[in-house]
Amino acid sequence: MILDNQQNIILIGFMGVGKGTIARALVKNSDFFAIDTDDLIESLENKKIKKIFEQEGEPHFRNLEKKCALWCEKNLTNTIISTGGGFYKQDNLKKIGKVIYLQSTFDKILEGIHNSPNSKKKLKKRPLLQNIEEAKKIYNQRVTQYENVADIIINIEDRDINQAVENILKAIK
Ligand code: S3P
Repeated sequence: MILDNQQNIILIGFMGVGKGTIARALVKNSDFFAIDTDDLIESLENKKIKKIFEQEGEPHFRNLEKKCALWCEKNLTNTIISTGGGFYKQDNLKKIGKVIYLQSTFDKILEGIHNSPNSKKKLKKRPLLQNIEEAKKIYNQRVTQYENVADIIINIEDRDINQAVENILKAIK
């Protein structure tokens, strides 16, 4: 059992890897509730992430993530927290809960986005996925940082959601 009493689970990983999808699937198979840090930020600002980047810039968004991380630490228990791809950098990450890194290669992540029925929307809403070369650089910079901060690493390259959920539940029991 890697979870302490009432502890949260934090899903980290690159944009489009499936953090929200896995969180929703985990809820169906457990007593956990789930929230998403980008959703919290959007509702706080009453603005889409894309608009926040356009109008206030990335540093403002990162400040909102910090605020969100502090709020999560203080207020959440027994919650699966899916996060934006850059949220893993928060200083208090480990204080929020156990960190699960959803791991995949850059090419498989892109393939998954392109194969999804709403792929255009998925690409459009992510400011840091507009330029694929730049996105790949970000991926390469982050990949070992994700691994280093993770308590558990779950490979999701084959995009088998059921298997991933099973592996996560096994790992935290
Ligand atoms: C970001 C990832 C996005 C969102 C923002 C920045 C990042 O979330 O938080 O566009 O820095 O990787 P997803 O991981 O859900 O795409």
